Amino acid sequence: MKFKIKHVSTIDSTNRELMRYHDMYENYSILSADHQTSGKGRLNRIWEDNGSGNLMFSILLKNVISIESINKLNYVVCASIISLLDKYGINSKFKWPNDVLVNNKKISGVLIETRLTASDSIVVIGQGINVNSTSDNIDDYIYISDVLGRNISKEKVLYEFVNNFKKYFHNDLGFQICKKEHCYHNKIIEINNTKYTVGNINMDGSIILIDSNSQESKYFGSELSLSKREILKDE
Ligand code: BTN
Repeated sequence: MKFKIKHVSTIDSTNRELMRYHDMYENYSILSADHQTSGKGRLNRIWEDNGSGNLMFSILLKNVISIESINKLNYVVCASIISLLDKYGINSKFKWPNDVLVNNKKISGVLIETRLTASDSIVVIGQGINVNSTSDNIDDYIYISDVLGRNISKEKVLYEFVNNFKKYFHNDLGFQICKKEHCYHNKIIEINNTKYTVGNINMDGSIILIDSNSQESKYFGSELSLSKREILKDE
């Protein structure tokens, strides 16, 4: 697995670029940008450009993974971030399906996009990591520099990320790390006036919710998104 990193100053979106020109980029290309004019988030949200303190990059994987393993990629990516933060002495949590939180605030987000045909699988893994803070008073987001009290090199963070990604790609260590750090496990949540206990996460990328009759239901990230607002109290 040999990654080739290309850096640009400004682009519409590193995800869009790799998906659009996947033929022209080598397999295992990583494209990073200081600024995005049209950054994409999950669930059709916009990923705002908060200045150059955000590490934004995408990884292109061509015919590397099967459809069945795509959901596992979330774990590989989030565990790579959890481990790199750990190296800086920062304790973080996995928020299913693909966020990493520090002090209950979002420090990174992942957007995995796929184009699958009978003969090809094009996967673009987009990653935004809040590294150096450029603004104060952010309620929902946190930057690595907020915790450390100093700015750090974005290149070094990317380097650590890539090393961890390689380490977790071919095994289930990433899943084990996310399972251990799964922050809403056993919390009570309320969705559409119904209360559930949050159960385990699964290797296939899903999560289990348990209702008051102990009935278990399985959800994928495309069907459900958990936020602080749905958490009621500890069990
Ligand atoms: C989310 O939490 O909603 C996912 C955000 C993913 C943002 C990254 S930034 C680099 C890459 N390019 C994009 O347009 N989006 C991803």
